[in-house]
Amino acid sequence: MSNYHIKHLEEYYQVYRKSIREPENFWEEVAEEHFMWRKKWDNVLSWDFSKPEIKWFEGAQLNITENCIDRHLSTRGEKTAILFEPNNPDEPAEHISYNQLYTRVNKFANVLKSKGIKKGDRVCIYLPMIPELAISVLACARIGAIHSVVFAGFSSTALSTRINDSDCKMVITSDGSYRGAKTIDLKGIVDDALEDCLGVNSVLVAKRIQSEIPMKEGRDEWLKPLLDDASEDCPAEIMNSEDPLFILYTSGSTGKPKGMVHTTGGYMVYTAYTFKNVFQYRENDIYWCTADIGWITGHSYIVYGPLANGATTVMFEGVPSYPDFGRFWQIVEKHQVTQFYTAPTAIRALAKEGVDLVEKYNLSSLKVLGSVGEPINEEAWHWYNDNVGKKHSPIVDTWWQTETGGIMISPIPFVTPTKPTYATLPFIGIQPALMDESGKELKGNQVEGRLCVKFPWPSIARTIWNNHERYKDTYFSAYENKYFTGDGALRDEVGYYRITGRVDDVIIVSGHNLGTAPIEDAINEHPAVSESAVVGFPHDIKGNALYGYIILKDTGESRDQNNVRNEINQMITEHIGPIAKLDKIQFTVGLPKTRSGKIMRRILRKIACKDISNLGDTSTLLNPEVVQEIIDNAL
Ligand code: PRX
Repeated sequence: MSNYHIKHLEEYYQVYRKSIREPENFWEEVAEEHFMWRKKWDNVLSWDFSKPEIKWFEGAQLNITENCIDRHLSTRGEKTAILFEPNNPDEPAEHISYNQLYTRVNKFANVLKSKGIKKGDRVCIYLPMIPELAISVLACARIGAIHSVVFAGFSSTALSTRINDSDCKMVITSDGSYRGAKTIDLKGIVDDALEDCLGVNSVLVAKRIQSEIPMKEGRDEWLKPLLDDASEDCPAEIMNSEDPLFILYTSGSTGKPKGMVHTTGGYMVYTAYTFKNVFQYRENDIYWCTADIGWITGHSYIVYGPLANGATTVMFEGVPSYPDFGRFWQIVEKHQVTQFYTAPTAIRALAKEGVDLVEKYNLSSLKVLGSVGEPINEEAWHWYNDNVGKKHSPIVDTWWQTETGGIMISPIPFVTPTKPTYATLPFIGIQPALMDESGKELKGNQVEGRLCVKFPWPSIARTIWNNHERYKDTYFSAYENKYFTGDGALRDEVGYYRITGRVDDVIIVSGHNLGTAPIEDAINEHPAVSESAVVGFPHDIKGNALYGYIILKDTGESRDQNNVRNEINQMITEHIGPIAKLDKIQFTVGLPKTRSGKIMRRILRKIACKDISNLGDTSTLLNPEVVQEIIDNAL
């Protein structure tokens, strides 16, 4: 019997040791006992980080939707699979049972087929957090189409870049979305995006806000009549373990977004196993992750991980501040939520509103609290622990990435003693390493370095869509034979890990990964801008905010700087989305550069953080004089 459900610390260490000593045997047992395979594997694992090539459960055949839906029907058919809580608290929640989910996914899958979508085709999903989002993801997986979900807060330019990068044939969207008191015209954004996407010949539109929208003849169709007419029976496509399941884009420090490719068998096994343990999920629990399915957290821990365990997973359409800042707690009380998983930025925003809105609701159903997406600061950790968890619901600070597919470092609740700001111990099967700048592994405890992983785990992304070289360069070339995460971390005296933040030019704003290069590209499109550099600085709620240093062209005309500031943020909104707007914009005559012309972001970062006591030696710069000028005018 494999240790599918870990219950005490000694057991953790014992299972961990086994997973490291005999990884193949360990994962084989987990895979064998807890999932439904059409055919078993010929080989558990083959890997070579130098290529890089990683294969789990090679030769096995399965369909992930049979694991997430079909196999639960005989025992949990009437149990709620997805509990949809709408944006407006006066609209009733919708309980979608496993039986209903089966029917709805099959019908949707048949609609996709009727539109010519087949195994291996890419389908872009640009939907708000409504049931159709989870259902369309599963419908793609049912027929072996590769879903590429794009977060519905991205702009039309960001959407078209992603559609074109992976040659999507179809887009699934809605007439609009609700976000708090606002409505957003999603279909209009899709129409704009598709001006640049010649490969898309079909757009399926879900009705959500009941608005009149233009439908393009021959391309756009309402989903409902198609679903009404579709058959409830859609046999699952038999997939190989290493067939792609989905593409999900994440920002890189340079260049265009990276389409991370996740495959089927290993991703299923790892997300299901981590879900069960990290949330200590039990049969009648009501689990709620507040992320959007547009991010990896939603893929792995709203859809696949929970459903593979036959869980009830809450999907919330709205925002934490609507109709007031008590909304999260009202939902916890209303649905008797047992596990609650959110991001530090949300915790900080809620903490700022005081405890009255928390105390107004009965939160006694809560057993486990989770945090993800960025480091959780000590103050936010204590606020969460004291006021939401009432000091008896352990906080699982889960460190992981789009690329890792599943949780990598995290306490196991009621098993691992927690420590504020520490993600604590590696999850089963995960072998972290801290490296120094010269490429040497730092052994022992009380060390700080760059976080790598030495051995493959089942849900590691296998490549970047259409760009395997970039996959190799980004993750496998910094340190030989290791996956490099881009994060810094320290290991304390008992071996607990604390993530210290990115060591590259990715900035995490409100839990969203933003690369500086695409933001600078957007700024530089402004006709008055000659050059720009973007860095992060600490922000009370967002964790980090963006600070832009901008050189304007000398056009001879005088322009109102405030107008230029607004226009720059407008350009960023159009190119990327409102999440990437700059909080501070400083106009400057120059940017500090090395003699080879590289912008010294380290100096700019320190100035933005108001930490100018130790700027290092600036005399070797090409233009040392600009440093003082920038300091004098810093915001
Ligand atoms: O810097 C780390 C931070 O978020 C990055 C990954 O972002 P993304 O791919 O969008 O995935 C987010 C959700 C899994 C990481 O490289 N990060 C994520 N979780 C934590 C974290 N930093 C500190 N503590 C965490 N718990």
